[in-house]
Amino acid sequence: MVDNSFIENRIHPKIRLNSICPYFTMFPITFPYSVLLNAKKTDVVFDPFCGRGTTNFASRLLGLKSYGVDSNPVAQAVAQAKLVNVKREEVNKLCSDILFNFEPKHVPSSEFWEWAYHAETLINICKLRDFFLEKDQLNDVEIALRAIVLGTLHGPIMKTQASYLSNQMPRTFSTKPNYSVNYWKANQLIPNYVNLLQLVEKKTVYFFNDDLPETTDGEIILGDSRWVGNVFEDKFDWIVTSPPYFGMSTYKQDQWLRNWFLGDKDDVDYSSKQQLVHWSEKSFVISLSQVWSNAANKCNPSAKLVIRFGALPSKSKKTPQELIEESLSLSNCNWQIENIQSAGKPISSNRQANQFKNAAGSYVEEIDVFAHLN
Ligand SMILES: C[S@@+](CC[C@H](N)C(=O)[O-])C[C@H]1O[C@@H](n2cnc3c(N)ncnc32)[C@H](O)[C@@H]1O
Repeated sequence: MVDNSFIENRIHPKIRLNSICPYFTMFPITFPYSVLLNAKKTDVVFDPFCGRGTTNFASRLLGLKSYGVDSNPVAQAVAQAKLVNVKREEVNKLCSDILFNFEPKHVPSSEFWEWAYHAETLINICKLRDFFLEKDQLNDVEIALRAIVLGTLHGPIMKTQASYLSNQMPRTFSTKPNYSVNYWKANQLIPNYVNLLQLVEKKTVYFFNDDLPETTDGEIILGDSRWVGNVFEDKFDWIVTSPPYFGMSTYKQDQWLRNWFLGDKDDVDYSSKQQLVHWSEKSFVISLSQVWSNAANKCNPSAKLVIRFGALPSKSKKTPQELIEESLSLSNCNWQIENIQSAGKPISSNRQANQFKNAAGSYVEEIDVFAHLN
């Protein structure tokens, strides 16, 4: 009997890599892992809303090939890191080579940037940013280093050793420039110098440790799952995913600093291209049905679909179950629902349900939907 108890322990060396960078509304690794325990070794897994790649990392833990798509560049960059095969010395060396030999082409300057980072720390961040932006394609070591920087770009100031590069900020989302500056000024928070190389060295020991399981094949694609074409080498046997809730369309803006590191402009971009449509429940259901239909075309016969989903009571008139049932039926692809069950009480502060607990003023229960292709 294989002992799977490690999956409950977020800091177990085998699964630490999954938390290399927080991501708004990620689901717990236990969910895709427990679903995929039922997969055959040759099965191929797909997540059309892969976020930080939790499903892909669960697939890796189980030796399964997996693919992911997400329309947010931060999600793609973080999810890609879940599939890399690197030695920590290689990542440290790359970081040191860039910091000592590379000059940044652009260093942003505004009140926000002056308060967000110590001037020298910002120059070092920009060296790495420009190095990555010059590349058409990144290798595994580069993907790993980029994800570490994304994960440390902002977060709380620690009393002892620095764990994040920024002035005080949440780690899960980037606060808007005006709000941040006012907060730092009001609290007299001056950004400290952070030694980026030392921080990377500390993180590589933690994330790329010797217990990390062998990588598995797969690919993470930046795109819109409603339309993404036949770019995959394989047909899928499992889709394990969690779509955004209806009304939840600010993934890019909430990650604007990390998106800046990936090449966006020096301020928040409020456009929401390549997202599901959130104007009305009807348009949302239609765009979700397009994802199920597009995915069905890439599946093997009798493929399984497992969806975790919820709702914001302030935005939705319909229940999560009604929205999913309608979207599956509209997809016209014979997705047959086998079972729908409560996902239980949210336990992690990062789950979609909890993000809105306070704003919505009430507890949002998520559901797990189990279906297969008929
Ligand atoms: C609930 S999150 C998924 C979180 C993921 N399960 C995890 O653990 O990180 C939903 C994701 O869907 C992505 N998304 C929204 N519309 C999309 C679309 N049309 N195509 C692909 N991804 C989309 C968002 O960027 C977001 O990352």
